[in-house]
Amino acid sequence: MSLIKEKIDLENVPQHVAIIMDGNGRWAESKGRERTFGHKSAIEAVRNTINACNEIHIPYLTLYTFSSENWNRPENEVNTLMNLLSETLLLEADEIFSKGLKMHVIGDVEKLPELVKEQLFNVIELTKNNTRGNLILALSYGSHKEILSAVKSIGEKVKTGEMEIADITERVFEKHLYTKKFPAVDLLIRTGGEMRVSNFLLWQIAYAELQFLELYWPDFTKDIFFQCILDFQNKERRYGKTGEQIRNEQKILEQS
Ligand code: IPE
Ligand code: IPE
Ligand code: MG
Repeated sequence: MSLIKEKIDLENVPQHVAIIMDGNGRWAESKGRERTFGHKSAIEAVRNTINACNEIHIPYLTLYTFSSENWNRPENEVNTLMNLLSETLLLEADEIFSKGLKMHVIGDVEKLPELVKEQLFNVIELTKNNTRGNLILALSYGSHKEILSAVKSIGEKVKTGEMEIADITERVFEKHLYTKKFPAVDLLIRTGGEMRVSNFLLWQIAYAELQFLELYWPDFTKDIFFQCILDFQNKERRYGKTGEQIRNEQKILEQS
């Protein structure tokens, strides 16, 4: 039993957690191993995170698995990552299904190798009626491209007269992003020590709490995740208001 988990207020967990799983290569190099060993070792951390989310009922988890910029890595590393991805999807499909998770993918999926696409669509199909939680893989994902494609499809609708410029509200814009079915990100975690967002969910993290951890992704555990949730729960999210306003609103809510 995790003592850290016990402290979490289950009524107040973030609805959407997004994770930049960084540091696999450096983790392996620090052990005198090939970078690809780090990617293989990352799977256990992914499994732990999915389980931890499931245990405390976080409804949306987005994992940054491969960025649009990661295509520029050496061919051998890209191939290893793609093979690992299709193998893992095949091996974990039943587990994802039995946990009640519905899988989604965001990104330029067309660029992925056929085998990966096939496994992805198998898991998406298998889990499409699940309702306990949503597991979103960001694959070949880049936020700039996502935003540009939203702009283009809105532009197209204006051009054909389906939409007026005045109709383009924030809500309408969001409905043209890959994440249209998901709520905004409440908590963004990045492992690996870098304080940057690397083209990840730029629109969606506008009011997210950001947590940057020094440790490398393969060392990420359930308890570290639970600690991130606790730290999140200790933040006052003010959305531009004053702390006093927020506390008064909270009081009114508790009284009603
Ligand atoms: C994250 O780890 C995994 C991917 C980007 C696919 P890295 O491979 O970026 O590891 P570092 O940052 O080089 O250590
Ligand atoms: C971000 O990590 C992408 C993923 C974790 C999938 P990178 O390692 O690609 O980010 P940079 O290049 O250090 O910004
Ligand atoms: Mg990296």
